[in-house]
Amino acid sequence: MRYRSVTATRLGSPDVLQITEHDLRDPSKGEARIKVLAASVCRPDITARTGKALYHGTPLGHKAPFIPGYAIIGDVDAVGDEVTEVVVGDRVGALTIIGGYSEYVYWRSDRLIPVPAILNPAEAVTLILNYIVAYQTMHRSAKVKEGQTVLIIGASGGIGTALLQLGKLSHLKMYGVASGSKHSIVTAMGATPIDYHTQDVVEFARQAEPEGLDAVFDGMMRLDYIQGGLSLLRRGGTLVSYGEPTGFGALARILATAIIVNVLPNGKSFKLYGTSAYAFNKRPFLEDWATLFKLLEEGSIAPVIAQKFPLLEAARANALLESGTVIGNVVLVAPELL
Ligand SMILES: NC(=O)c1ccc[n+]([C@@H]2O[C@H](COP(=O)([O-])OP(=O)(O)OC[C@H]3O[C@@H](n4cnc5c(N)ncnc54)[C@H](OP(=O)(O)O)[C@@H]3O)[C@@H](O)[C@H]2O)c1
Repeated sequence: MRYRSVTATRLGSPDVLQITEHDLRDPSKGEARIKVLAASVCRPDITARTGKALYHGTPLGHKAPFIPGYAIIGDVDAVGDEVTEVVVGDRVGALTIIGGYSEYVYWRSDRLIPVPAILNPAEAVTLILNYIVAYQTMHRSAKVKEGQTVLIIGASGGIGTALLQLGKLSHLKMYGVASGSKHSIVTAMGATPIDYHTQDVVEFARQAEPEGLDAVFDGMMRLDYIQGGLSLLRRGGTLVSYGEPTGFGALARILATAIIVNVLPNGKSFKLYGTSAYAFNKRPFLEDWATLFKLLEEGSIAPVIAQKFPLLEAARANALLESGTVIGNVVLVAPELL
């Protein structure tokens, strides 16, 4: 039997994404085979495909051809020897980083995430990447408390809309930086929008909150936003940057800023967040995914899905996300879920 994936045949625009066929093999020892029900299409998929990821050109970089796809939800379809964590039929998720745009994925069984079968896979897959980033930056990095005031930079995106929903749940007072055309969603989610095209973000926030902000969430990882955000914090405030740096030079400047801010006795802190921590300690991630699945099941969060595409139409889905018009998430789904 054969199955299909969407492969980045070389680095470049979405049309390098082509359907490829592979033999369906039995899973190896310690591995599960997952029939994919939903896969996320996210910003890091684009930076990997275009060769703009920070690690491109290093031994960690993806060399074409490779199958993109950072996160999946699916059903265990077969297991290899010595698999104890899952059985055939279990609903699972995986933070694949690459490999998700595929009808079947083979994954180490001890790296699978238990997912309640009652959840809609298209919604649940947004929790595997975008919501875990939002939840952990908010509750583990910034440790927000009810009533606090925060600024969200990149508020209309996949992670930004998740931050807005989680912030509303925590009764935060929120400001959201987004293009004017996307302000209605920022307002609908309970935040005051700021248009970075036409307004001075720092000046607006300073005038609105002269006492300062408790937290700033920065999805751009740009030094101008970081320095502006830090200047807005009150004593005890935290700025968390979770975006992808544009290069090693930019990363070095940001790291130097973090060191200086964190040693200065000004009561402000600057934290960098990355899901790469999952490779070293999965426990906090499993706890937080379980919390997020519960919030989704009880209807406390409702992921904003701009569009769903059939799994094999990843090229169209990538082109849409890259167009800059998307609000929220873009998701690929198996044909039976369309
Ligand atoms: N740390 C991690 O582990 C991790 C994991 C996933 C993603 N990321 C990174 O996090 C960042 C955000 O990801 P995402 O999935 O939310 O991306 P996304 O869905 O593409 O959203 C990014 C948003 O940024 C806004 N934007 C673009 N230029 C801007 C600017 N100059 N100022 C303010 N907003 C601007 C865009 O909205 P407007 O049209 O409103 O401008 C867009 O909605 C990306 O850099 C991504 O690579 C990091």
